Amino acid sequence: MEPRHHGTADAIARLKALPRIALTPLPTPLHRLARFSDSLGADIWIKRDDMGSVGLAGNKVRKYELLLGQALTEGADTLITTGAVQSNSARAGAAAAAQLGLRCVLVLTGEPPAERRANLLLDDLFGAEVRFVGRLGWSGLEPVLAAAAAEVAQAGGRPYVVPVGASSPLGSLGFALAYRELLDQLRQAGLDLGDGDGMGDGSGAGSVAVTAQGPVLLHTTTSGGTHAGLVVGRALWGQGPRPIGVDAGRVLTDPARDLAQLATEAAAVIGLDRHFSPEQIAVELGYAGPAYGSVTEEGLSAIRLLATTEGIVADPVYSGKGLAAVVDLARSGRHEGRPIVFWHTGGWHANFDPHYGDALR
Ligand SMILES: Cc1ncc(COP(=O)(O)O)c(C=O)c1O
Repeated sequence: MEPRHHGTADAIARLKALPRIALTPLPTPLHRLARFSDSLGADIWIKRDDMGSVGLAGNKVRKYELLLGQALTEGADTLITTGAVQSNSARAGAAAAAQLGLRCVLVLTGEPPAERRANLLLDDLFGAEVRFVGRLGWSGLEPVLAAAAAEVAQAGGRPYVVPVGASSPLGSLGFALAYRELLDQLRQAGLDLGDGDGMGDGSGAGSVAVTAQGPVLLHTTTSGGTHAGLVVGRALWGQGPRPIGVDAGRVLTDPARDLAQLATEAAAVIGLDRHFSPEQIAVELGYAGPAYGSVTEEGLSAIRLLATTEGIVADPVYSGKGLAAVVDLARSGRHEGRPIVFWHTGGWHANFDPHYGDALR
């Protein structure tokens, strides 16, 4: 598959030449969900980024492949990263650090829970040094990370800091590569790639609006790297469905604006001079519930439906939100018979924390 515009060929070459560490078997499968589709009367496919080893499962791994590629190139020996108590990103970082023989410091927001379960249990198992910094907003984390890096450097170490969600411009590019993977798989599956603007209306109404040809692509979005990378990938190859990010918790101040900026910065890393505008970014705000980490009824029922029809697990914090949008879209008929592709970004580990697991009982 060749890029449509000559100007993008150099950027694609630079993307492919970025230092990258293989952390998970790729490509992740794309397959049809036969019984889930039947139960909703729609043609629904799933991209299985939930698969991988227990530590290195989920969407963060694609970002870490590039971030740790850079870290090792720079001679780093300590990974410092951050997130919420049940951060999938921090857990993936801890697992990757263990695999590569790096020291790992995790700066987690919130208070230490009475019991260390789920992702936190895995962080410990992977040998990460976990530090809790209390109820700090994501924006307040930067100085704390900088202080941790200074401390490591002072002790003679070489720190490499990964921001929340691993959503730096470089990390996001893991999903530009992933978009190409998806295009190849859609073609192999005999699905029309689509080159129109299949999009959400971004109205916040929780009703995905669809306006073009080809499959409808939905995934969960939070810190934005997944979405931004997919947007860059689509720009590079000039075809395929426009990603619709289903917001899981209003973490970004203005998701469409912030995602456009992150996509613009990610494109610049590989010399692609493209300015993405908020109008080009399709975000659905209506499935998140009142705040990050909220458990929603639509999410729980979508998780149960996927589990009972396909034996595939999603979680209430992230993938369940995107899945709720898929169910809503399928039931509404707004997809107009077009296939729906759900990019499962993982996160099922959180179900083993009673806070989320009990909600599923
Ligand atoms: C399971 C899961 N899905 C989706 C996301 C959202 O991805 P991003 O942060 O790239 O927007 C996250 C982020 O933590 C996640 O853990």
